Amino acid sequence: MAQSFSWYHHNYLGPTKTEDQLKAKSVPLCSVNDVQLRFLCPDDLEEVRTLCQDWFPIDYPLSWYEDITSSTRFFALAAVYNLTIIGLIVAEIKPFSKLNKEDRGILSESMGRDADVGYILSLGVHRKYRQNGIGSLLLDSLINHLTTAERHKVKAIFLHVLTTNQTAILFYERRGFVLHSFLPYYYSIRGKCKDGFTYVSYLNGGHSPWTLYDHLKYWCSVVVTAGGLCSWLSGRIRSAFRWVCYRTISRFTFTQDN
Ligand SMILES: CC(C)(COP(=O)(O)OP(=O)(O)OC[C@H]1O[C@@H](n2cnc3c(N)ncnc32)[C@H](O)[C@@H]1OP(=O)(O)O)[C@@H](O)C(=O)NCCC(=O)NCCS
Repeated sequence: MAQSFSWYHHNYLGPTKTEDQLKAKSVPLCSVNDVQLRFLCPDDLEEVRTLCQDWFPIDYPLSWYEDITSSTRFFALAAVYNLTIIGLIVAEIKPFSKLNKEDRGILSESMGRDADVGYILSLGVHRKYRQNGIGSLLLDSLINHLTTAERHKVKAIFLHVLTTNQTAILFYERRGFVLHSFLPYYYSIRGKCKDGFTYVSYLNGGHSPWTLYDHLKYWCSVVVTAGGLCSWLSGRIRSAFRWVCYRTISRFTFTQDN
C-alpha cells in the first residue's frame, strides 16, 4: 500500500466536481421509498470497495472491507436500489475513554466518564444518485439507532472531514452537526498533508463541555435566582418581625387594661 492507513482517512469528495456538475449528473429516483436499507454482508465486499475507491482517495486495506462487511462491531448500512448498492454509512460506537486525544474534547471528562460516542467512519452516495435524500436517509437511520433507550450512554456522534469537502460540511451542518475542532495536517492524501475538521452532534442529553461563557451565564443565573430568593426571605423576615411586634404590643395593651 502506497500510504499509511488510518481509520480516519476517509473523508474526501474525490476528484473535485462543482455542485452544478453533480446536479447535472444526478438521476432523480422515482421515490426514496424504492430504496431498501439493509446491513452489509461479506458478499458485498467487492461492490463496496468499488464505491469507496470512487468516493475516497485512500486505498483502504482488504481487512478494512472485510471488517465493515462482516463484523457486528460496525453499524454498516447499505441503501439498495434495483438490487445495487447506491449508498452506505459505516459507524461504530466507542467508549469515550478509548478516544484519541484530539477527539476527547467533544465531551467534558465528567460527562464522558461513563459515556459512549458514535463515530462515522464513512458515508457516501453513488454520484448518480446524490441529492435524492439517500445520504439523509442513511444518517437518520444511524441516529435513530443511537437514540434508542438501550443506547442512552451514547452522548455524541462525530466525524472527521477534509476542510475542503464543502458538500459534506454543508450536508452535516444542515443536519445539526457543529464544528468542534480544526485539525491541521490531519490527513495524508497521496503523500500530501491536508487539514481536517471534527464535526459533532449531541444525542441523549449529551452536550459540549462548558466554556468560560457558559460558566459566566450559569453563575449570573444563580445570582439572579438567589437575588429573588433573598427578597422573598427578607419579605418573610419582615412579616415575622411585624407579627412579633403586633403580638408583643397587643399583650402589653391587654396586661395594662387588666
Ligand atoms: C455528502 C453526501 C453523502 C450527501 O449525500 P446525498 O444523498 O446527496 O444527500 P441528500 O440527498 O440527503 O442531501 C443533499 C441535498 O440534497 C437535497 N435533496 C434531497 N432530496 C432531494 C430531492 N428529491 N430533490 C432535490 N434535492 C434533494 C437535500 O435537501 C440536501 O440539501 P441540504 O443539505 O441543503 O438540505 C454525498 O454528497 C457524498 O457521497 N459525497 C462524497 C463522499 C463524502 O464526501 N462523504 C462525506 C464524508 S464524511
